[in-house]
Amino acid sequence: MIIRENINLSDLTTMRLGGPADFLIEIESPEECPDAFDFAQEKNLPIYFLGLGANSIGLDEGFRGAIIKNAIKGYNILEETKDELIIKVGGGEVWDDFVEFVSKKGFSGVEAMSKIPGTVAAAPVQNIGAYGQEVKDTLVSVEAFDSLLNEFVEIPAEEMDFSYRHSIFNSGETKGRYFILTCTFRLKKENPKPPFYNSLQSYLDEHKITDYTPENIRIAVSNIRAEKLPDPEKIPSAGSFFKNIYLTEKEVKPAEEKGVPIRKAEKTDKNGKKYTEYKVNTGWLLENADLKGKVFHGFKVSDKAALILINESATSEKDLELAKKEISDKVEEKFGLKLEQEPVFVKEIKQEVDEE
Ligand code: EPU
Repeated sequence: MIIRENINLSDLTTMRLGGPADFLIEIESPEECPDAFDFAQEKNLPIYFLGLGANSIGLDEGFRGAIIKNAIKGYNILEETKDELIIKVGGGEVWDDFVEFVSKKGFSGVEAMSKIPGTVAAAPVQNIGAYGQEVKDTLVSVEAFDSLLNEFVEIPAEEMDFSYRHSIFNSGETKGRYFILTCTFRLKKENPKPPFYNSLQSYLDEHKITDYTPENIRIAVSNIRAEKLPDPEKIPSAGSFFKNIYLTEKEVKPAEEKGVPIRKAEKTDKNGKKYTEYKVNTGWLLENADLKGKVFHGFKVSDKAALILINESATSEKDLELAKKEISDKVEEKFGLKLEQEPVFVKEIKQEVDEE
């Protein structure tokens, strides 16, 4: 366990904003958890979990607490047959290294999520997804440290209440409670099947790729992303800054009247009930509110992928607030829809926990 003091959040997060955090505790093995959490509890420090900082934004005042950073490494193949791979991965592994490892072995299920920045442990927190795949589809379970009861637990994926960018780890009374140590995935030895997500299919057609191996899909997705999305290691950003929007049935008509394209899909919820999903691409809203390429208080709405906000010159999170407000107001004025931020702020996580 490595404990450091007074570490700038701007050095720990890819948006490159934020003042100092009082403590940074790096955890390299699950056994270090009890000591790390004792340390924070004795000092009465709020805690914040961090991976590679690709979806977290530091505040100017920093963080009067302890950042617990996941540095747990390792791949543990639990079962490998000709059809299937069950693999347990250390939460501190880089997500894309894991995707590369299994795709190269010919196992499918995560290849469309190539090049998503961040750690393996962060993946289930917001149920990361891209090009038609989501973590929820292949995750079996996680091992975690329960910071409320100070004990190790194993949580099956069925209990994670997954939906779009949502899980028990980032919402409700369990928000911020579990520090994810390892993630176990079940992947299939098969080629992913078309039809693929539009932009992926266009790329495959254009490049005459018809051999849909996980590795070829991984290469295609990597190339698409490299063209459109800035590498957060080089250009400060936090991936998609705005979420896509899911409308309720009664919100559909007013949006359509304003010319917003809505993608309708028939879905089944976790209780087996059918419902219609109404999705609005926020990228379309930003583009059609003429915001692409525009700069607000040092933040640029990417001209390649409008959901990405690039930190060109800002050093204060206050400027991000101003930029966010101006951008959101423009979209709301034109289309009557409110934008929601995707990355989270580094601050005390408030849980609403029932007494046991
Ligand atoms: N669009 C535009 N203009 C834009 C961007 C998008 O009109 O500038 C419209 C287009 O109609 C396009 C559609 O939006 O067909 C979807 O765009 P795209 O495939 O680029 O994906 P996205 O909705 O902008 C989401 C995720 C990304 C993920 C991609 C690919 C969110 C918030 N973002 O973006 O995830 O890589 O799909 O599947 O759900 C992230 O979460 O950080 C992230 C990068």
